[in-house]
Amino acid sequence: MTSGSTILRALCLLCAVAAGCYRFDTAAAPPPAKPLVVPDVASSPVVRSSALFSAVATVFRHPRCANCHSGTEHPLQGRQGRLHAPRVAGARCELCHGAAYDPQTQIPGAPRWRLAPAAMGWVDRTDRQLCEQVKDPAANGGRTLAAVVEHLRHDELVAYGWSPGPRLEAAAGSQTELADLFSRWVKSGAHCP
Ligand code: HEC
Ligand code: HEC
Repeated sequence: MTSGSTILRALCLLCAVAAGCYRFDTAAAPPPAKPLVVPDVASSPVVRSSALFSAVATVFRHPRCANCHSGTEHPLQGRQGRLHAPRVAGARCELCHGAAYDPQTQIPGAPRWRLAPAAMGWVDRTDRQLCEQVKDPAANGGRTLAAVVEHLRHDELVAYGWSPGPRLEAAAGSQTELADLFSRWVKSGAHCP
């Protein structure tokens, strides 16, 4: 049985719609909800490329590299990168550093041992800063990225990172692995973190 109040409510509703108080969406069917797009970071080329550089950066910051790439007039030494003793700004490095580790003096060495130019300093740089710098010919010795790969693969001072003598920890991996990793980063578009 239909109660009076139900009829009244129906009438009110009709009046209200007619009066424009209520408005119903008369479009046939609502569009389906859009899927929530979760970015697949693992497959984003930029994210993957950036991650390759960050892995490279961990080697660049290793003391075997960073102690020469101090970004100052002074080399550093030791695991914590303390100032080289003696202070040797401008001193002839080869007075003490030979072409290889010297078991007699226990001083590490490599051919033409010398400090990296300040513009090639790698200490106190974020991954991004380091990345932009390595790509910048004004800061990397005028090199193309292909030339940087060649440097990493063949340079004797880079090689030192894996032959520092028995007292110092070698850099991670091997020189070839580092050059391959850097090369992969270049091929991936050389994106910066
Ligand atoms: C004894 C000091 C010394 C050590 C140790 C050393 N470097 Fe260098 N590095 C230099 C000097 C000097 C240059 C500049 C030479 C040039 O431009 O030809 C240089 C240049 C570079 C360059 C090219 C410039 C640039 O910024 O892209 C790269 C790359 C590089 N070094 C990587 C390394 C890595 C990696 C290590 C450690 C595994 C390392 N170096 C260890 C002295 C050193
Ligand atoms: C008076 C001798 C002497 C002179 C000159 C000298 N060094 Fe050294 N250097 C040493 C000694 C000693 C060590 C310590 C090695 C250690 O801690 O095992 C050392 C260590 C270093 C290290 C640390 C290596 C590493 O893998 O951590 C760097 C880099 C370095 N010297 C760069 C230079 C540079 C660049 C010059 C020239 C500007 C230079 N040295 C001149 C004696 C000297």
